[in-house]
Amino acid sequence: MKIAVFAGDGIGPEVTQQAVRVLEALDLPGLELVEGDVGGAAYRKHGHPLPPETLDIAKACDAILFGAVGDFSCDDLERHLRPEQAILGLRKELGLFANLRPATVFKGLEDLTSLRPEVARKIDLLIIRELNGDVYFGEKGMRTTDDGRREGYDVMSYAEDEVRRIAHVGFKAAMGRDRKLCSVDKANVLETSQLWRDVIIEVSAEYPDVELSHMYVDNAAMQLVKDPGQFDVIVTGNLFGDILSDQASMCVGSIGLLASASLAEGTMGLYEPIHGSAPDIAGQGIANPMATILSAAMLLRHSFGREAEASRIEAAVAGALSDGVRGGDLGGNAGTREIGDAVVQKL
Ligand code: IPM
Ligand code: MG
Repeated sequence: MKIAVFAGDGIGPEVTQQAVRVLEALDLPGLELVEGDVGGAAYRKHGHPLPPETLDIAKACDAILFGAVGDFSCDDLERHLRPEQAILGLRKELGLFANLRPATVFKGLEDLTSLRPEVARKIDLLIIRELNGDVYFGEKGMRTTDDGRREGYDVMSYAEDEVRRIAHVGFKAAMGRDRKLCSVDKANVLETSQLWRDVIIEVSAEYPDVELSHMYVDNAAMQLVKDPGQFDVIVTGNLFGDILSDQASMCVGSIGLLASASLAEGTMGLYEPIHGSAPDIAGQGIANPMATILSAAMLLRHSFGREAEASRIEAAVAGALSDGVRGGDLGGNAGTREIGDAVVQKL
């Protein structure tokens, strides 16, 4: 079990440290952790947010535990040197095309969400976000128009095979849950979305037991706060998935609780909290490590098939929460280490 640990920037190192403690507490046979530099931290040390040595470590490992990247002091760098390029580069280089972002409300936290408790309580959804295409990876640049105006552009596109492979991930996930798949697009305006929708419908023929629906992204944003309980699995493109998954996090109480898995074909995966580097609270020992700890659970489940240990971690987090162990993001005052202690104790 060789796991790369890329802690990154801001609160990344603090939260990752607690997730590592949890993994170590499980006494897994053959567990080996290899650290590597990413993001602004890597830029300062190696001159690049994703240096070749880090990529080599990633390729030599079975899975990656990732903290966060992002650092305001790098905002003036050319785009290819900015911290975010580390995560985008890893997703692309390793073919991590399927991003799983589950959202459920933990018992006892119903009052802490941005929604009314009776609405929030029903949330149990999984967002599946395509991660290797869309406007994120299309041609982009700055140019000057003929009449001298500056113009920025980013090309949005999806090829049918890219849509097909994420569609299968969506349908398969739905088969293992409540068999409902909602595909989110903007087919009323975008050709990219029209192709997306056509291909999703084609693939649906192979999954007659899954109830497929389609929703425009603006409506999906509305439905997510109006009646989030209607969703089981949502499948969507890179940009829409980025936005809707942040929104979903507020519906369940805190972005400090949401884990994610980014999977390639096969067992390679990168696991990270969906929150960012939160530079405003970095280094203070107050960040909630639960999202990273829950990401470690997803790592055991998806890259190593260790369902029992994954469930144990999830139960330990739920247990700590119901004991009232809450970080500042949840209105409490438990520190990063204290939350780690509580989860380890529960294990
Ligand atoms: C995410 C983040 C990233 C993204 C950033 C850091 C590039 O917001 O994982 O959701 O936009 O994909
Ligand atoms: Mg995001």
